[in-house]
Amino acid sequence: MTKQDAQQRIEKLKKVISHHRYLYHVLDRQEISPEALDSLKHELYQLEQQYPEFITIDSPTQRVAGKPLGGFKKVEHAIPMLSIEDIFSEKELRDWENYLEKLFPNQTFEYFCEPKIDGFAISLIYKNGVFITGSTRGDGKIGEEVTQNLRTIESIPLRLRNPKYEIRNTKQILNNKFKILNSFEFRASNFEFPPAELEVRGEVYMEKKDFEDFNKKLGGKYANPRNLAAGSIRQLNPKIAASRPLKFLAYDLITNLGQKKHSEEHQILKELGFKTDLGKVCNNISGIVYYWQEIAKKRNALLYQIDGTVVSVNDNALFERLGVIGKSPRGIRAFKFSPEQATTKVLDIKVQVGRTGTLTPVAVLEPVGVGGVTVSRATLHNEDEIKRLGIKIGDTVIVGRAGDVIPDIIKVLPELRTGKEMVFVMPRVCPVCGSKVVRKPGEARHMCTNTGCFAIQRENFYHFVSRPAFDIKGLGPKIIDRLIDEGLVSSPADLFKLEEGDIMPLERFAEKSAGNLVESIQNSKNKVTLSRFIFALGIHHVGEETALDLAQYFRDINKLKIASKEGLKQIPDIGNVVAKNIYSWFRLKKNQKLVDDLVEVGVRIAEVELPRTRGSSTSAIYGKTFVVTGSLESMSRQEAHDKIRMLGGHPISAVSKKTDYLVVGTEPGSKLEKAKKLGIKIMGEGEFLELLY
Ligand code: IVH
Repeated sequence: MTKQDAQQRIEKLKKVISHHRYLYHVLDRQEISPEALDSLKHELYQLEQQYPEFITIDSPTQRVAGKPLGGFKKVEHAIPMLSIEDIFSEKELRDWENYLEKLFPNQTFEYFCEPKIDGFAISLIYKNGVFITGSTRGDGKIGEEVTQNLRTIESIPLRLRNPKYEIRNTKQILNNKFKILNSFEFRASNFEFPPAELEVRGEVYMEKKDFEDFNKKLGGKYANPRNLAAGSIRQLNPKIAASRPLKFLAYDLITNLGQKKHSEEHQILKELGFKTDLGKVCNNISGIVYYWQEIAKKRNALLYQIDGTVVSVNDNALFERLGVIGKSPRGIRAFKFSPEQATTKVLDIKVQVGRTGTLTPVAVLEPVGVGGVTVSRATLHNEDEIKRLGIKIGDTVIVGRAGDVIPDIIKVLPELRTGKEMVFVMPRVCPVCGSKVVRKPGEARHMCTNTGCFAIQRENFYHFVSRPAFDIKGLGPKIIDRLIDEGLVSSPADLFKLEEGDIMPLERFAEKSAGNLVESIQNSKNKVTLSRFIFALGIHHVGEETALDLAQYFRDINKLKIASKEGLKQIPDIGNVVAKNIYSWFRLKKNQKLVDDLVEVGVRIAEVELPRTRGSSTSAIYGKTFVVTGSLESMSRQEAHDKIRMLGGHPISAVSKKTDYLVVGTEPGSKLEKAKKLGIKIMGEGEFLELLY
């Protein structure tokens, strides 16, 4: 991006952000989610860091929070209330540590991690142990005095607790004894009590449950607990604040009472009567990542809303020496949870040609973190979807993840257009083979009319070598692409003719790996079963299950080749459409040739599968749906699937309500958790083998 582009982008972002802020804060309306708005702010912040000369006083990044309201007294913060720079990934966390290490090469860094509470920042001043003044952050330098409102919050002590003399718990009251203080508490109580002046900072918040109940009473006026908490504190009438279930969590002790670490501040704060929560010292980046993941797991169960964690350099002296850049200390980061939505740019719209000849437009995106993964592509499905979104190449878009998995473009932000965006039109000819493209009446998809399309062939290759088909180890899409590009193969039958010498000249192919590849291709010739062979042909609508049905019915590829539509329909589960597809597939000369060529190059169909109904309804597997997760000792997952099929069961890949059993090997993935949640029967390998044999 040129400097001029950056300037224009900054101006546009500022306009759009302030528009949405106005909608949200003044008109109580929301056109884009708070996460999407944050994402735009983050982009603006980063651009401004890169080009500080374009920072203007009215930029949303320069407003830490709202300006003091006319009705409140203004309070100057002796030490400014700063902000924290956001990071979203382990990589950004490591970059931060590298940056710290560059500044202080001989230091080892210890960190303190704590939840990032989604509330309203507050400063509390105690004089001689008594709560005197409470203020909002305001613009970071000057806040509003809201003492009366804060006094109504019970979790804010009106008088500090004396760590030396307090009775520890009821049992001790009963025994009328003082608990012996542990070594740290001695340290905490080393300071003069009460301190002449003490400043504590933290977050006023409302618990999620209280927010729901209370917001209902207010007619759903507030979008989230943070806004309701903020709205309650900034009321001129303290009775309003008093009537709302507000709480306070402390995270910072500003006054130096002799503490050397931020972790000690948390302990002292507790001793003085403040609530702090879930803080932990971590010695390295892996520890921080683990903490962040654990907190993410707890997130929903927590009573209050958080949007990530805060990580600080634990050594206070070092933290000071690291200093401040802009409005944020260098020694602290908000390690946030990846937002469920983010904004990014559409770099291009490409068209993929699938194995069935369908053309699918795909948006190529500037990579962005969404819901825990980096997203760089999102399907646009078809022409209608492109029209519905009104998307152009170069647009800024909001990306989410449909059903929490597949990246999805939710909305285009046309306000951010520069005029250079380009309209996308579906190609009239196939981008790969140049044949005519048609959109069938009544259908949304465009199809390449050339069944011999290069792309279709390519996809057919991937399918042919895949695990449930010929299962050729070491022959992935990248190598196939190279083989095709070099003109070494144009039909899967050509694979079996490949020699080491053909492959070795290809870039980055060593002699040994070329030899291994040829061996692995040759091996696959003798172990393919009829059902795998049929599946490998890539006939539209013929999945693994249908291939097995066909294999067991015909027992011979030559019989299948000449089967009539009526004949095919005799097979249970094969209806009109599938029968027609299979029949038409075998009528095409090039397909007949493929089958003949495969036999000619020496493919031996290994065995005829046992009938599916072996053990029939008496087998516990018959008719049941299985998911296998993790690795099994005695067989590969593919073998397990084959065995389940042989006994009339249905192996599938994703756990859902329809799954009957989850077979668990070592190192199972998230499927185990999901199955537990859905109450699906879970069995180990031993139990599974008992069912099989
Ligand atoms: S420490 C330099 N700790 O997040 C600022 N802040 O985005 C030091 N916040 O102004 C603040 N939870 O309102 C800190 N555990 C936590 C926090 C926290 C929430 C808020 C706070 C701060 C804002 C910065």
